[in-house]
Amino acid sequence: MVSAPKYPYPFIDEVIVTEEEIHERVSLLGKRISEDYKNSEKILLMGLLRGSVMFMTDLMRKIQRPLTIDFMLVSSYAGTSSRGFVRIDSDHKSNIHGWDVILIDDIVDTGNTLYTVRKLLLDRSPNSLKTCALLDKVDRHRVDVHIDYLGFAIPDYFVVGYGLDLDEKGRNLPYIASVDLARYQELYGDLT
Ligand code: IMP
Ligand code: MG
Repeated sequence: MVSAPKYPYPFIDEVIVTEEEIHERVSLLGKRISEDYKNSEKILLMGLLRGSVMFMTDLMRKIQRPLTIDFMLVSSYAGTSSRGFVRIDSDHKSNIHGWDVILIDDIVDTGNTLYTVRKLLLDRSPNSLKTCALLDKVDRHRVDVHIDYLGFAIPDYFVVGYGLDLDEKGRNLPYIASVDLARYQELYGDLT
């Protein structure tokens, strides 16, 4: 009998943040946000699609305050390399004027995405604007970004899972795993 593969994707190298670690950390972030926003009746979580979906849906369950959600679809990446510019593919629908907005992304790499979207949202006069990311590749920042609510700082690996993808693969994994890029290229050819 052939044993089942260890991971559902053959290009996974190793798990770097486990499901339990994520849940623990997300609960803690939810608690902190609940406390920090205890006087706000107008919390709006603004998620960046598609990578932040799993993180955001878990996080919102841990926030014990009234809140509303919206999304923007943005892209800055092709394959594993940042293009260095951010494209707004689909803008949010609600008016954020007067709202306490928390901008949520899956991972900060160069920082371009968070920096650009933050600036854009500030022009739309929210009452306040904070940033939240599950992961941060601290050593790769190329612009000055501040993350108010961070899950985990990680080394410069390309990672998938818990919403994050490599060319749309890997989003459904319940943990964060590093990618064996050589293996990936053997399987799917060169990355763009
Ligand atoms: P930045 O604009 O360079 O900070 O890149 C942030 C965006 O790139 C994130 O929203 C992710 O979609 C994507 N990204 C960066 N690093 C990774 C990674 O290791 N795995 C999956 N996506 C990543
Ligand atoms: Mg993204």
